[in-house]
Amino acid sequence: MSVRLHAGNGEITVPDIVSRKCRLLSELPENRITCVTAYDYPTARILDQTGVDILLVGDSLGMVVLGYDSTLPVTVEDMIHHTRAVSRGARRALVVADMPYGSFHVSLDESVRNAVRLVKEGGAEAVKVEGGERRIELIARLVQAEIPVMGHVGLTPQSLHALGGFHVQGKTAEAARQVERDARAVEAAGAFAVVLESMPRELAARITEKLSIPTIGIGAGPDCDGQVLVFHDLVGYAVEHKPKFVRPYADLSAEISRAVVKYCEDVRSGRFPSDAESYHSATEVRERPSARQATESR
Ligand code: KIV
Repeated sequence: MSVRLHAGNGEITVPDIVSRKCRLLSELPENRITCVTAYDYPTARILDQTGVDILLVGDSLGMVVLGYDSTLPVTVEDMIHHTRAVSRGARRALVVADMPYGSFHVSLDESVRNAVRLVKEGGAEAVKVEGGERRIELIARLVQAEIPVMGHVGLTPQSLHALGGFHVQGKTAEAARQVERDARAVEAAGAFAVVLESMPRELAARITEKLSIPTIGIGAGPDCDGQVLVFHDLVGYAVEHKPKFVRPYADLSAEISRAVVKYCEDVRSGRFPSDAESYHSATEVRERPSARQATESR
């Protein structure tokens, strides 16, 4: 079984996350859940060592790693490939993998098979599924198959075309009621947590107050039980568009450019590599003439 129930060795498990539901957030701020996306081994190692609770292998990888315009082209194979790398790097954090577009818009049996692949082949400990009321049956089936599910409501990027773009959701009273119904549906179906994306903070606060599972916000204000950010946004790494809710904590693009410009200058000027950065032959090999040199000198 891949879910480490109360592992007791410092590893974060699904029940740990559920137990972090912060009814009294202001009194227990340390309970807030931290989640960052990760797509490869070295990033997973670093994030895991910093103590991030959840590594989300988001299908945002399609945009920030693979260079697509949206998450829609991402395949199950892509997700397995990247989830495997992240799982190898995660010793403590819970690894959650996104079910990509198309992988759960098929029959329930095939959807479950796709989720099982993310667990068996990718090493995911839970999967994330976008959508609310429409996913009730699917979430229930996944939970029956022992796969913990994280829901995702509000702005669901896989619904890009249906929503007409990446817009804040739940702004009218009716739209807010729909987002709330979606969050409740996800909870009722058995999800252990739910991502609330791009919605007024008042709505996210109300949902957080009403649900008994943790809410993890992105563009949903500070009153959720936890927060998630896309790694590239968080560290300022090749980000082309910065949404209002993103706070970059570093400028990695500038740092990478600086390093590579310096490297190119040093190669061109002969300053790299130095003698200290070179391997040397053993003295006798250096001094003994090669057979060819010996013949030529005769
Ligand atoms: O794919 C992703 O990175 C996500 C987060 C933005 C929640 O779904």
